[in-house]
Amino acid sequence: MSGLVRARLAELLSAQGKLTFAEFMDIALYHPTAGYYNRPEMTIGPGGDFYTSPMVHPIFGACVARQVWQMWNLLGKPDPFFVLEMGAGVGAMAVDFLRMAERDAAFYRAVRYHIVEQGAALRERQQAAAEAAGQRGKIEWFETLGQLPGGQVGVIFSNELFDALPVHRLGKAESGYVEFYIEADGNGYRETAGELSDPQLVALVDEATLTQLQPGERFEVCPAAGEVIEAMGRLLERGFVLTIDYGNLAPDVHLRHRKGTGVRAFWKQKLTEPLERVGEQDLTADLDFSLLIRRGEQAGLQEVGFTDQMHLLGGNGFLQKVAELQKRAREHMDLMADEELHKMLALFMPQSLGEVFKVLIQAKGLEAAALKDKIGALTFSLDE
Ligand SMILES: C[S@@+](CC[C@H](N)C(=O)[O-])C[C@H]1O[C@@H](n2cnc3c(N)ncnc32)[C@H](O)[C@@H]1O
Repeated sequence: MSGLVRARLAELLSAQGKLTFAEFMDIALYHPTAGYYNRPEMTIGPGGDFYTSPMVHPIFGACVARQVWQMWNLLGKPDPFFVLEMGAGVGAMAVDFLRMAERDAAFYRAVRYHIVEQGAALRERQQAAAEAAGQRGKIEWFETLGQLPGGQVGVIFSNELFDALPVHRLGKAESGYVEFYIEADGNGYRETAGELSDPQLVALVDEATLTQLQPGERFEVCPAAGEVIEAMGRLLERGFVLTIDYGNLAPDVHLRHRKGTGVRAFWKQKLTEPLERVGEQDLTADLDFSLLIRRGEQAGLQEVGFTDQMHLLGGNGFLQKVAELQKRAREHMDLMADEELHKMLALFMPQSLGEVFKVLIQAKGLEAAALKDKIGALTFSLDE
């Protein structure tokens, strides 16, 4: 399968001589039939190269649903209520979300669940998962954000979408900036430095990062992330965008990777070399949440708050579920409950996934400052 990816790269390399890392990453991950995410055998979780939070335990999708339900209440319970998940993987979160949503009949009735998923094979996987859960008729699928009409009232959310978008790899030089390209190296690929493919790329990074980086140090920029958040903002007339992802605010997100660790590759749940196994391994780069905040503003999105997964879960009923399970485990010597607790806690504990995943909440058509103390993810405190 990866033969098709290699053939496409060879074709472009022979025409252009070199590719930006973003072009390379785009083909490796998103070649329509053979890219990493579009191969028929693509999967996430058991048997795949990495786990995402929805694949760890259904409590994740349930807590996201609880957060979206609270937003629906804040918006005045609109019916219809637009819900959009972008980049839905194998469909687990959609199913867990809708199961939770069923607990409030009026909410469930109002929800119009949309999925925007680039890959045809993944869309089929999601449809099969929804069918098996009896939720197929509740979801509508699209390939791009552009296929949806604007003027929506609702919530757009994503988990690990932005960290899978193609990035350019740049470096600071004694005078100015360089870009790192990919060129052919026998049967493989190697990196080569050159001029910026577009001088505007540097403008995707904040001033503090550019000042603090030293000559010889590196950083990544993701133009696609800016385009996606703007498109999300434009879709909404009133509502929220909830983004869960690896990454951080700038400059931290960039300074952390200044020595060149900004792109990671995963194969069979191990860290590998980004230029190897093209099309067969995942490539990912930490998200610069500050870019989403800045670019979101251009489409009317105001930052409501920035937090982490522990707070998102904690503020949406997670600890109550843990307490219920603990009780069951204690009273009935339920060893299954113990195992389930273990998985759930991996999502929450700061030393596990609770802190590495960050959460950004933006709002449009609402008084952002007044919302901060009304959102579970932003009000949770461990001391309570
Ligand atoms: C790392 S996976 C995360 C999947 C899922 N959200 C989860 O948590 O398991 C990234 C997902 O985003 C999708 N994706 C990437 N770029 C996209 C785009 N431009 N439009 C729609 N989906 C996209 C991929 O196909 C994949 O489903």
